[in-house]
Amino acid sequence: MLVLPLILSTVITISLGVPHSRQLGHPVLQDDEDADLTVPELVTKYGYPAEEHFVTTSDGYILRLHRIPHGRTSHNKNKVAFLMHGLLCSSADWIITGTTHGLGYLLADEGYDVWMGNGRGNHESRNHTTLNPDTDADFWHFSWHEIGNVDVPTMIDYVLETTGQSQVYHIGHSQGTTSYYVMASTRPEYNDKIAAHFSLAPIAYMNHMTSPLMHIVASFSGPLDVLAELIGLNEFLPSSDFIEAVGSLLCADDEITQALCTNALFAICGFSPHEMNATILPVLTGHTPAGASVRQLMHYAQEINSGYFREYDFGLDNLAIYGQLSPPDYDLSKITAPIYMFYSHNDWMAGETDVIKLCDGLGDACAAHFLVSDDEFNHLDYLYGISAPEILYARVISLMARH
Ligand SMILES: *[C@@H]1O[C@H](CO)[C@@H](O)[C@H](O)[C@H]1NC(C)=O
Ligand SMILES: *[C@@H]1O[C@H](CO)[C@@H](O)[C@H](O)[C@H]1NC(C)=O
Repeated sequence: MLVLPLILSTVITISLGVPHSRQLGHPVLQDDEDADLTVPELVTKYGYPAEEHFVTTSDGYILRLHRIPHGRTSHNKNKVAFLMHGLLCSSADWIITGTTHGLGYLLADEGYDVWMGNGRGNHESRNHTTLNPDTDADFWHFSWHEIGNVDVPTMIDYVLETTGQSQVYHIGHSQGTTSYYVMASTRPEYNDKIAAHFSLAPIAYMNHMTSPLMHIVASFSGPLDVLAELIGLNEFLPSSDFIEAVGSLLCADDEITQALCTNALFAICGFSPHEMNATILPVLTGHTPAGASVRQLMHYAQEINSGYFREYDFGLDNLAIYGQLSPPDYDLSKITAPIYMFYSHNDWMAGETDVIKLCDGLGDACAAHFLVSDDEFNHLDYLYGISAPEILYARVISLMARH
């Protein structure tokens, strides 16, 4: 098997401290200045108001939020939209496709006060009051459980306090939906602070996902977990060697395909060429992947293997940590705020069977689920797809107006 040595060499390369680089994806096509601009710089450049805020969690993580308080011409209607990114993504994902396609801009133009969160550990929120992410392994001892249980509620409280509102419209993509389900089930009092939640490519159950790279990670998750602990690997930063090797194995030879395949995010999630706007590639590969902990990936690997939606499996330590041998399930019956789900047939991560099972498990809280009309729509097209505004965001926006 060629892939295991590749993964191991990645692991070892990372442990030697290859520095974080925004060029991880590929240097090709990165000639646009937008690739190097921060979120507020981009938003301002395109004529929208931008703000940056910081909030510290109860366990010391310093999280960065970005805000577009209103559109270029619209009047703020005192409604807050809170957008939460997925794995290896960041607040940038809601705006990097530009003013005609970015959901952050479209909502601002609709008069929403748009807040874009960043979970602990991505390159926007790689900071802590006492722990140093470069030298303290403890910084990285979290999965999306902590993002949902601590970070999202902390950010929502900050947003409500700052805006004087009592509820947000919560929109999540991928892990941004997982962290929502974690929050709404483990901190059920937060359901009252949600006008409605919109799940773009919902992820809770995962044993029908089809990503080849995630299957490989899942099949080695046991040994990888042990190895990661052993050598102190905690931050997930795939080396360009690894990703380029996988990319060249799995992908066609043209420049655009290679630029995407050699980007960790696209290598994991796949992409649909006809939904991909080549104009935005430089800014896209300049801002993704945005970093994560190894545990975030391992937690998903556990779900792929087990079929459960439950807390992190610490193996022999479960008894000490949870007082039981296996990790507790997330209690879906605690989730009460209305949820709208959007899924698609060509999504490598959010399998249709898993999405429907989640909606069924949520009972009345799952207000509706919608199949995206493009059969080729992939996991990242919810953010970057050319037709996303037309076939997806328009419906989200009209549903928001009803609540
Ligand atoms: C591609 O992106 C550019 C920059 O955001 C945008 O102006 C253009 O309309 C997009 N093309 C398509 C086909 O959506
Ligand atoms: C981390 O946060 C501290 C306290 O707010 C700040 O002084 C420091 O500049 C931040 N470091 C980075 C790398 O953002």
